Amino acid sequence: MVEQDFTPLERYRNICGDYNALISTLKTPLPLSLWCNETRTSAAALSEILRREEIRIHPIRWSPGSFKMIGCEKPGRLWSHMAGLFHIQEEVSMIPAALLDVRPGERVLDLCAAPGNKSLQMAVRMANRGTIVATDINSGRLEALKRNTQRLGLANISICQANGTNLTWDAGRFDKVLVDAPCSCEGTSRKSLKALQWSNPEYSVKLSSLQLALLRKGIQLCRPGGSIVYSTCTYAPEENEAVVNAILKEYGDQVRLRPARLPGLQFSEGLTQWQDQTFDATLRQTLRVWPHQNNSGGFFAALFEKTTDKKVWQVKSEGRGHYRPQYHHNNSDVIKPWLNLLAERFNLKPTHFGHLMLQPGEKGMVHLINPDHKPPLSPVSLLSGLPLLRTNINLPKIPTGAAMRLAPLVRKNAVDLDKDQAMDFLHRKSQDLTGMELQNCSASGFVLVRHAGFGLGVGLLRLRENTPPTLESLFPKAWSPENL
Ligand SMILES: C[S@@+](CC[C@H](N)C(=O)[O-])C[C@H]1O[C@@H](n2cnc3c(N)ncnc32)[C@H](O)[C@@H]1O
Repeated sequence: MVEQDFTPLERYRNICGDYNALISTLKTPLPLSLWCNETRTSAAALSEILRREEIRIHPIRWSPGSFKMIGCEKPGRLWSHMAGLFHIQEEVSMIPAALLDVRPGERVLDLCAAPGNKSLQMAVRMANRGTIVATDINSGRLEALKRNTQRLGLANISICQANGTNLTWDAGRFDKVLVDAPCSCEGTSRKSLKALQWSNPEYSVKLSSLQLALLRKGIQLCRPGGSIVYSTCTYAPEENEAVVNAILKEYGDQVRLRPARLPGLQFSEGLTQWQDQTFDATLRQTLRVWPHQNNSGGFFAALFEKTTDKKVWQVKSEGRGHYRPQYHHNNSDVIKPWLNLLAERFNLKPTHFGHLMLQPGEKGMVHLINPDHKPPLSPVSLLSGLPLLRTNINLPKIPTGAAMRLAPLVRKNAVDLDKDQAMDFLHRKSQDLTGMELQNCSASGFVLVRHAGFGLGVGLLRLRENTPPTLESLFPKAWSPENL
């Protein structure tokens, strides 16, 4: 195994509390952690499912519904992960969503969102209501967010590719903003041997101008009274306290720091002094997490309150930010034909969609979306809501994410598989069925597939005389365990 060179971290010897403890922790593997998708199941039910799979988990005290996972190297291969019951996320990466304390119905901007873990966590905390606008400059990195939005069955995210520094008032105003900035990533060295190769103060100073520009935009687009979290996964004060201090100087009384504190999380206060620089005394309210404090990665976060708007912003934002698409009601003539299709094959009724509405999208795709969802006018969303039905093909098809969400509710043409059959389905294997699984199946065609009461996706059922019924798995190749 290649040994890491920790020399770049020596400059933090006097600020990390215990340098020897830091380095010994960095030499050990990073524990996996996860949060429960509480739009799908409860943390107690998930714990029981994982216990039955002989997976050991321990609650993360400061983050309800989150767990550290022990002795499971490939959690992505568990059926419960593939069925969207939980999401893997590094413990310290859960900090920004907890600090922002997002609530159902709020409008939230995640300015540097990809690959999307924090957007997903916030969308779940908002119980599939309100709006997450998740933007990132790198469209390739947004693919994971598109996939996970569907696996977790989330309908309240609009995903956009954009340079965050260039967003205009057409993005609208936000109650909460997360600026999880691109950084030198020193705090991820337990995950990646390469992390420390970017660690040098000159590079950090260079990065700080982009970090400042992104944070300025976040502050601009936040409504007065709203909150902004600025976070990085690096220890470098040049990218952390120095950036926050520069913003405090620039914006005066338009923003102020709030205590970034989470009961139960071990942390250090932000620095007020670094080398020859002195920072505002309120920088103490920011939060530093060193890996040896919680057996995690490293992290920095600042929580701002936006107190007032600049005059010029008030004028320019006037009339913007209240954009709301004209959604069709589920009982409108536009929506009825699709509802009829879903009713005919699966006995699905409008009540099965709860507060969510069916809306026509691009390329013949009908989406499920929450009625209080407000995507930006610009940038245009690559995906808004949860794709529900592809209609521009001979036999309209439900995509896997929506099938997972709806399968537990379906009373007709749903197939219940045992654990081995479920794993074959998730590995995209066709299988013969015995008949027991088919009790509510009326005819060949698409069926929704379940295990233990949870949706796994869509299959193609073939019922023929004198041959056993077969189920072809349509589980997406890119989601299948062998690709994880
Ligand atoms: C630390 S990562 C974000 C991680 C993400 N918040 C998550 O939790 O999954 C920083 C992201 O900033 C993006 N980025 C870099 N420059 C950007 C810019 N000018 N505008 C928007 N995003 C940018 C990068 O593509 C990268 O995905």
